[in-house]
Amino acid sequence: MTRKILVTSALPYANGSIHLGHLVEYIQTDIWVRFQKMQPKDKVAECWYCCADDTHGTPIMLRAEKDGITPEALIERVHGEHSRDFAGFHVAFDNFYTTHSDETRDCANLIYARLQKAGLIEKRTIEQYFDPVKQMFLPDRFIKGECPKCGAKDQYGDNCENCGAAYTPNDLKDPYSAISGAKPELRNSDHYFFKLSGDSCQSFLRRWTREAGHLQPEAANKMQEWLGADGENKLTDWDISRDAPYFGFEIPDAPGKYFYVWLDAPIGYMGSFKNLCGKQGIDFDEYFKPDSKTELYHFIGKDILYFHALFWPAELEHAGFRTPTSIFAHGFLTVDGSKMSKSRGTFITAESYLQTGLNPEWLRYYYAAKLNSTMEDIDLNLEDFVARVNSDLVGKYVNIASRCAGFIGKKFGGKIAATDAEWLIPLRDAAASIAQAYEDREYGRAQREIMALADAANVVVNERKPWELAKQEGKEAELHAACSEAIEAFRLLTLYLKPVLPKVAEAVEAFLGIAPLTWSDVATPLPAGHTINAYSHLMTRVEPKLIAALVEANKASLAPTEQAAPAVEKTEAKPEKVAATPAKASEADGAFISIDDFMKVDLRIARIVDAGHVEGAEKLIRLSLDIGEEKPRQVFAGIKSAYDPAQLIGRMTVMVANLAPRKMKFGLSEGMVMAASDSDGKAPGIFLLTPDAGAQPGMRVK
Ligand code: 2FM
Ligand code: ZN
Repeated sequence: MTRKILVTSALPYANGSIHLGHLVEYIQTDIWVRFQKMQPKDKVAECWYCCADDTHGTPIMLRAEKDGITPEALIERVHGEHSRDFAGFHVAFDNFYTTHSDETRDCANLIYARLQKAGLIEKRTIEQYFDPVKQMFLPDRFIKGECPKCGAKDQYGDNCENCGAAYTPNDLKDPYSAISGAKPELRNSDHYFFKLSGDSCQSFLRRWTREAGHLQPEAANKMQEWLGADGENKLTDWDISRDAPYFGFEIPDAPGKYFYVWLDAPIGYMGSFKNLCGKQGIDFDEYFKPDSKTELYHFIGKDILYFHALFWPAELEHAGFRTPTSIFAHGFLTVDGSKMSKSRGTFITAESYLQTGLNPEWLRYYYAAKLNSTMEDIDLNLEDFVARVNSDLVGKYVNIASRCAGFIGKKFGGKIAATDAEWLIPLRDAAASIAQAYEDREYGRAQREIMALADAANVVVNERKPWELAKQEGKEAELHAACSEAIEAFRLLTLYLKPVLPKVAEAVEAFLGIAPLTWSDVATPLPAGHTINAYSHLMTRVEPKLIAALVEANKASLAPTEQAAPAVEKTEAKPEKVAATPAKASEADGAFISIDDFMKVDLRIARIVDAGHVEGAEKLIRLSLDIGEEKPRQVFAGIKSAYDPAQLIGRMTVMVANLAPRKMKFGLSEGMVMAASDSDGKAPGIFLLTPDAGAQPGMRVK
């Protein structure tokens, strides 16, 4: 039967940058989708890849507030950044949408209404911590206090990072709000619950989680643990509402109550697909009706299995939709054997990887070589990364073409001789097993098979030595055959690597003068007489110094304040000294100024309308600042160690507007932005000032 497939990756939160940990999943999914799209139409009629930004929730609301922008402006900016990063790594979604959309809202309302009708929604009064200063109920992660078990201070409301104990916020000693610092009060509030523990969800989930194919074996075992033994019920009902203020969808007929972000996030898969259906004329119902013959796959991290393997199928089933065909969970990324770390420079953002000049296909290949279908963690070992990419991609694969293509061009007018040699048969025969490995998400196995074939091809080239044949009279036919067959081997290897290396494959297709390679082209060798184009180098080696620069660039965000920050005003924060004897210290220094002196400084609210790196400058970021003038001001600020330019765009800050313009190597700096830092580096970091919400560009600060 012809397959119709819908694939998703987990929706990234709209308040953070994409990093190499995220990319494990997007690259894993993208490889699978690209492999499906290479299949003949009578096998895979269509395969759609949908994703979206996960835009709702308290952290996003607070982050926007901190940046002095609306949540809508924040999610729009981040959508731009995420789209750029995914495109940079050749992650080719058919639709990268947003959960803050009409489609997602409609699906959420519909699912909620159907669950309500099925008697699966219940309103209950719960007691929850409330921040009296901020006037809001606090999510668990925003309550801190002393661990009830080991006494460690400043622990989150759900678990202790010191001893690992899990508890509820009500168990914390001396709780305080992580937002305002205030002592929270317990207050009552009505919440809506999805009755997951009821008989109907329970019996459905017991059946669904045991049915073959939905879950990986280790995930299915985990589910049995979460569900409990037969006769036992370990499921608890799921609180799906949050109180205002909240950024999300208000629940119909429940003013001031919002769907919890985890309710509408998976529904965002449907929303994104629905939006694509509108654009492409796809039949949404064919994919989501209960008895759908289409396939639905969710690639996720193992940390969000509970949401995808329990809540999501139960919601879909009881709201009259199909359930997922499979949930594919992967492990976490470690770098050099440890959790990614900002201080070690191994918390690497997608943007920094690309800006350092590393080739995205190196990472795609390295991840592919390491990935399998289990939930095991994968390690990015930076030394091994350099060695493996250089040895496999450059030393084995590209090497075949670079040693043989030139002779075809120079000696045979670009024309290929017959390519039906026997030694190529095993290379063609491998197609089925490599395809199976991709289908099964055993990419490591696929890459090992492909590299073994590349080794075999190199052995043949080494034996025939075209570079020596080229020097000998009367060996033209032998040279022509050797090089043509090697190029055919290279075509096959390119086809097999295409899901992983789409841009290299594109360049090879242009070089060979052939149509985009599909899986069935395995059986169609380059015909004798086919003309290929001039070969140009396909991939450079990874230089270890690039890796060092990458680690350095990612370390920088925690580096102590740099000295050469010509365009930044640093406000020194030394609370102990200043607070103890403020007047005396200033008097002794003769440090008072008059109000008139102060008023000479023209401080203005500025909106950062653009920000970018400055080529050749280690510490500077170029900012364009709107202070209500006709043209934005250009300012070079020494804040690169603390900020990503992309994060700054749209943010409000304060600038000195009447500082004499300064001609710098990179251009004119027309002012200064204000930031706090600790001059002796004890509290490393630079903190750009942000006005309270409501301040407008050009307002005077005094
Ligand atoms: O864990 C996360 O990053 C969530 N934003 C994932 C949501 S995936 C899905 F449910 F939408
Ligand atoms: Zn503890």
